[in-house]
Amino acid sequence: MMRTHTCGDLRPADAGRKATLCGWVATKRDHGGVLFVDLRDRYGLAQATFRAEQNAALYETARHLPLEGVVAVTGTVEARPADKVNPKMATGGVELNAASLEALNDCKPMPFEIGDGEVANELRLQHRFLDLRRPRMQHNLLKRHALTLALRKAFDAERFVEIETPILYKATPEGAREYLVPSRVHRGMFYALPQSPQVFKQLCMVAGLDRYFQIARCFRDEDLRADRQPEFTQVDVEMSFVTPEDVFRVIEGVLKVAWKEVLGVDLPTPFPQVPYEEVMLKYGSDKPDRRYGMEIRDVTEMVKSTSFKVFTEAPIVRGLAAPGGAAAFSRKHIDELTALCAAAGAKGLAWMKYTPEGMQGGIEKFIQEPLRAQLVAKLGAKPGDLLCFIADKKEVVEKTLGMLRLELAKRLALKPSKEWDLHWVVDFPLFLQSEGRLVSGHHPFTQVHPEDFALLDTDPTRVRGLQYDLVMNGTELGGGTIRIHRADVQAKVFGILGLTPEEAQSKFGFLLDALAHGAPPHGGIALGLDRLCALLLGESDIREVIAFPKTHKASCLMTGSPAQASEKQVRELGIVFQAPPRAGA
Ligand code: AMO
Ligand code: AMP
Repeated sequence: MMRTHTCGDLRPADAGRKATLCGWVATKRDHGGVLFVDLRDRYGLAQATFRAEQNAALYETARHLPLEGVVAVTGTVEARPADKVNPKMATGGVELNAASLEALNDCKPMPFEIGDGEVANELRLQHRFLDLRRPRMQHNLLKRHALTLALRKAFDAERFVEIETPILYKATPEGAREYLVPSRVHRGMFYALPQSPQVFKQLCMVAGLDRYFQIARCFRDEDLRADRQPEFTQVDVEMSFVTPEDVFRVIEGVLKVAWKEVLGVDLPTPFPQVPYEEVMLKYGSDKPDRRYGMEIRDVTEMVKSTSFKVFTEAPIVRGLAAPGGAAAFSRKHIDELTALCAAAGAKGLAWMKYTPEGMQGGIEKFIQEPLRAQLVAKLGAKPGDLLCFIADKKEVVEKTLGMLRLELAKRLALKPSKEWDLHWVVDFPLFLQSEGRLVSGHHPFTQVHPEDFALLDTDPTRVRGLQYDLVMNGTELGGGTIRIHRADVQAKVFGILGLTPEEAQSKFGFLLDALAHGAPPHGGIALGLDRLCALLLGESDIREVIAFPKTHKASCLMTGSPAQASEKQVRELGIVFQAPPRAGA
């Protein structure tokens, strides 16, 4: 071993020992004849002291060490006198009185300091190996390790088997756009990278493996945001002979372990279950942050009696009361909120201030008693609140009020009612309308709600799926379903989704075949590990918990990927590029 201790190990009890520490030069402080060098490694910081009177040449060498260079320092551990103890450092009770020094490597001038200061994102990603040297990133990666380890142990204790599934797969219509990989051996053919191990984990159930999990890398070529990366990690789970409740109990139990392990917190379980229709009504979102009150209420019928055309002519009118909004918002603020509502697709924002003196401003002149009192009661408004209403089609009302509610919580700096709100959203519609055709709400393998089978033929839009999402503080943490386990039902659902029997056969023939060979009833879920980790650590961007993430344009600024392939590779793959479109063409 090059070192006897790490930079976080030494304590006053080690005084008198000879020790060798290896690490990076974090700081140098020259007090004229006495030089203090803080050495850093993953485990902590340790102070090495070089005294000119002891060894002038060594002192001189140490003075010229570059910051962030790598050194090995050998010396004697000494307890610091009481007035020199640094309580902020775990090793602050000792110093290493240096007797020799070996410079292991040099360091060019640094693009930024290794500390907790703000550094531009681009610079951080370009020099990720240095960014990861910073304490916050080291902390995040170690916590992520603790989290995955805790998850693995918890699944193992529940008799789950970790199984690796292929990364080279084939294109399937599952929702997101896929990354394609050209084959050299089969010219003109492509693999696709998996959006998720969905089909393979179902096949594991057909194989009788009963309880599967995988910390699985998934790939999706989609628009990126703070909570989306082109490659990300799922905690992927599948179980045989289960109901949604069984899946919930396992996931709740596993997350309880994770919370305890990573944060030392007892997470209350079971999580509440809220129907999709209810969250869409009350929060205007299928991933609500329920911690800010301001529940949305439907007032369509109530306001039918007014002379306000906006209200009487719209199919749906809903509203909410923003606490303290009457005083907090000026006309200019309300105009800004109105502009946001318009950007979300609404035609405007109808509002009035509920002041201790009564209703004021906005649509107040259209609303008389007793309707005022009825609206106050319905919205649970208090004097000082701003009442907000949107009138439109259901989808527009939901989307706009859902956005407005979160915006109001932010602008009014409302305190969340608790730190963690985890809940299951259940009873999703099986199909959604998209551009005049039906698409899967989750994915095409989702089991039909047992009460809704008859509707498959008559009114598929009203069919519920055995689908559930796990939502935490306004983020979709995970989603899953009970699966269709019968080939005839699966074929029927493919048909409703517009796949011809031939297409279904060519894309999913192997799955239909598996379902026809004694597939057990089964279901599962996948949690976004990056999102879970970011939420646990209070990070708002999942890149803070991913070692080597990509930019929002899906490129890696450090390695320069994606990049052009060599001419030879391209030739071997039989790929011919079209000439780039000419300007103006
Ligand atoms: P779904 O598509 O809902 O379900 O994905 C499950 C969870 O994965 C996370 N996630 C992402 N995280 C980071 N970047 C992304 N681009 C990204 N996309 C998704 C989310 C999400 O809730 N096979 C099904 C699961 C199942 O039915 O069992 C699936 O993939 O946290
Ligand atoms: P108008 O009658 O267009 O002058 O609008 C009166 C008020 O109602 C303004 O505050 C508008 O922003 C608002 N408004 C207009 N259309 C809608 C709508 N569909 N939903 C909610 N508010 C609206």
